[in-house]
Amino acid sequence: MGVLASGTGTILAAILGAGLPVSAVVLDRQCPACDVAGSAGVAIEVVQRESYGPEFDRVAYTHRIVEALKRHQIDVVAMAGFGTVLGPPIFEVYYGRILNTHPALLPAFKGWHAVRDAIEAGVKVTGTTVHIATEEVDAGPILAQEPVRVEPGDTEESLHERIKVVERRLYPETIRLFMRQIRGGGTA
Ligand code: GRF
Repeated sequence: MGVLASGTGTILAAILGAGLPVSAVVLDRQCPACDVAGSAGVAIEVVQRESYGPEFDRVAYTHRIVEALKRHQIDVVAMAGFGTVLGPPIFEVYYGRILNTHPALLPAFKGWHAVRDAIEAGVKVTGTTVHIATEEVDAGPILAQEPVRVEPGDTEESLHERIKVVERRLYPETIRLFMRQIRGGGTA
C-alpha cells in the first residue's frame, strides 16, 4: 500500500506502527510526515505542488501522483491528512482502492475544516469516518465510524486531538480488514 500525507504525520505513524505493508509515502510538500516516513525507512516521494492558485493544473498534478504510486507497485492507497484534492486520473487507476480518514461523522461536516465546523454548529457529538475516497470529496462509501463527544470548552485543537486518538486506532484496523477482503480473506 501507499500512503498520501501532507501534515504532521501522526496518522501515518499509526499506520506504520500497526505493521501495515507500506511501500511508499507520497507527499505534496515538505512536512513533518516526511520525517515520520524517513524514520521508518519507508520510500518517500515528494511530488511538490507548485501552485495553490487558480492556475493549478489538478489533472496534471494527479498524473504525477499516480506515476509516483506506480513506481512502487502500489495496489491500495491510504490518504492520511493529504492536503490536495486529486482529480479523475487517480480514480481511474485506483477506483475503489483509495481509503481516507475524515475527522467527522460523514456525511456531516465534509471538507478541510470539519472539526471547526462541528464546534461552530454546536453539536454535542462528532467523530471520525473511514471511507472509500471518490472523486466527490468526502462522499464515498463508509467503511467505519466512531463517535467522539464534544466537551464544554473544546477548541478546534483539543477536539481534533481526541478525534485523532480514535483515528490512530480505527484507521489502521479498517485498512487491515479492507486489505484482507480484497485479498479474498487472507491475512494482511
Ligand atoms: C486527520 O484528522 C485526518 O482525518 C485528516 O487530517 C488529519 C491528519 O492528521 N484528514 P496528522 O497530520 O496525521 O496528525
